[in-house]
Amino acid sequence: MTLLSSFPRGCNVAVIGASGGVGQAFVELMSGDERVDGVHAFSRTPIEFDRKNVRCHFVDLTDEPSIEAAADVATAELPLDLVIVASGVLHRGSEIRPEKSMREIDPQAMAEVLAVNSIGPALVAKHFLPKLSKNHKTVFAAVSARVGSISDNRLGGWASYRMSKAALNMLLKTASIEHARTRPESVVVALHPGTVATDLSQPFTRRVEPEKLFSPAYSAGQLLQVIDSVGPDDTGDFFAYDKSRVAF
Ligand SMILES: NC(=O)c1ccc[n+]([C@@H]2O[C@H](COP(=O)([O-])OP(=O)(O)OC[C@H]3O[C@@H](n4cnc5c(N)ncnc54)[C@H](OP(=O)(O)O)[C@@H]3O)[C@@H](O)[C@H]2O)c1
Repeated sequence: MTLLSSFPRGCNVAVIGASGGVGQAFVELMSGDERVDGVHAFSRTPIEFDRKNVRCHFVDLTDEPSIEAAADVATAELPLDLVIVASGVLHRGSEIRPEKSMREIDPQAMAEVLAVNSIGPALVAKHFLPKLSKNHKTVFAAVSARVGSISDNRLGGWASYRMSKAALNMLLKTASIEHARTRPESVVVALHPGTVATDLSQPFTRRVEPEKLFSPAYSAGQLLQVIDSVGPDDTGDFFAYDKSRVAF
């Protein structure tokens, strides 16, 4: 069984944020995919997977040397065919909470959200993009969020998270243009996973209808189908779990 039929056999793939709900589901699905040879699972909090073809390593998105080392270890034997950034922060204890209004903006919390959600993935792109395979389709995908869409913002609130995902989308668009100059087969995309039952969404899902609250496995499976379906004409774009385009 494969969800990655547009990729060559023996794929080398990496997931950043493998300890998270969605990241873990990506690792589990890809490690069982017949096209995938090895999965490099990067996380800040240690995690283990019960699969022989998964290798776990440390990364902290706020520490560039750890990101550079991650890119080196993931490509020590083979170049990468697919990189998925599935890390992110929305809340942390009493220190980071999504703002209900502009009055609640706290510069330190905002800076941390931007560091993890925008600057971290930018550094992953900086160090991982040069290490992707040449001469066939490769994908660099980062999990963004529909609330990062500027044109879709009708409610206000969540300023830091919205800003961080809008900045991530711009980073991906910029990277897609630069990367295509030397790698015309490459695809760089932003992904919206839907509302997924994870620690990140847990405080905010009380009013979500059960059929609209996805399991991490369902969301990751949908996003892998999106990754499989996109080609160089789609690079720089923003796709939801159902393959629909999300307006920036
Ligand atoms: N869940 C949803 O409904 C939803 C909706 C839209 C978009 N998203 C996006 O989907 C992605 C995955 O989120 P999730 O729902 O799976 O959340 P999650 O379960 O909370 O996972 C977040 C992951 O990000 C990692 N992370 C945070 N800061 C990090 C750092 N400095 N260095 C390395 N890793 C770090 C966490 O690692 P630790 O375990 O070390 O903290 C964790 O593995 C995020 O980008 C999120 O914004 C989620």
